[in-house]
Amino acid sequence: MSAKLGVNVDHVATIRQARRTTEPDPVTAAALAELAGADGITVHLREDRRHIQERDVRILRQTVQTRLNLEMAATDDMVELALEIQPDCVTLVPERREELTTEGGLDVALHRQLIKKQVGLLRQGGICVSLFVDPDLDQLKSSHRVGAEYVEIHTGSYCAAKTAGDRANELIKVENAIRAGKKLGLGVNAGHGLTYQNIGPVVALGGVEEFNIGHSIMSRAILVGMERAVREMVELLKR
Ligand code: PXP
Repeated sequence: MSAKLGVNVDHVATIRQARRTTEPDPVTAAALAELAGADGITVHLREDRRHIQERDVRILRQTVQTRLNLEMAATDDMVELALEIQPDCVTLVPERREELTTEGGLDVALHRQLIKKQVGLLRQGGICVSLFVDPDLDQLKSSHRVGAEYVEIHTGSYCAAKTAGDRANELIKVENAIRAGKKLGLGVNAGHGLTYQNIGPVVALGGVEEFNIGHSIMSRAILVGMERAVREMVELLKR
């Protein structure tokens, strides 16, 4: 069975927020992604609200036809908001204000009590919970212990590997993590840093239910859309 694709539209909001204007709207981008075949829409509502805004999540909750996955920090405020908005799934991620993007997986083993509490509250509220973790056996076991239904394996180290040898080693870690997660009865998703060039070997491993991909799809969308966008403006300049 093919893996599902969750499209992360955060970067559409990044461009909008660069001008604090109303375009491009991540809600429109999400609808187009769904029309093109996305199985789900992911947004990360960060504490500093640097790209996605609360307004986006609330509207997406009404407009997304597939599944809405909300990435967020495991804080009381965010859990309260998620329980109110009711995304289909919450993916808990670590968050530091100064990072460019989510840099590492959640340390579930270290923050077991807090994460267990938040997973319990979200699940009681009818929301499916996934934990974004490094491909590490301890983290997978801890994720199972705190009651998560899914894990999302962090593929960042695999994607960032500079040599073929390092990449092969990181791929083995991802493969072992997928196997371990499934053995524990967890649903296994994967994401971060995946591109059109590096996703093939991960897909070939099998066992991943859904890939969450943002930056590479948005980057390509800007380039494949460039010609038409410029042509349309050139038309408007004609007298
Ligand atoms: N999964 C998680 C948990 C993330 O935090 C991100 C980045 O927002 C992604 C997937 C998507 O990563 P990328 O934008 O590199 O495809």
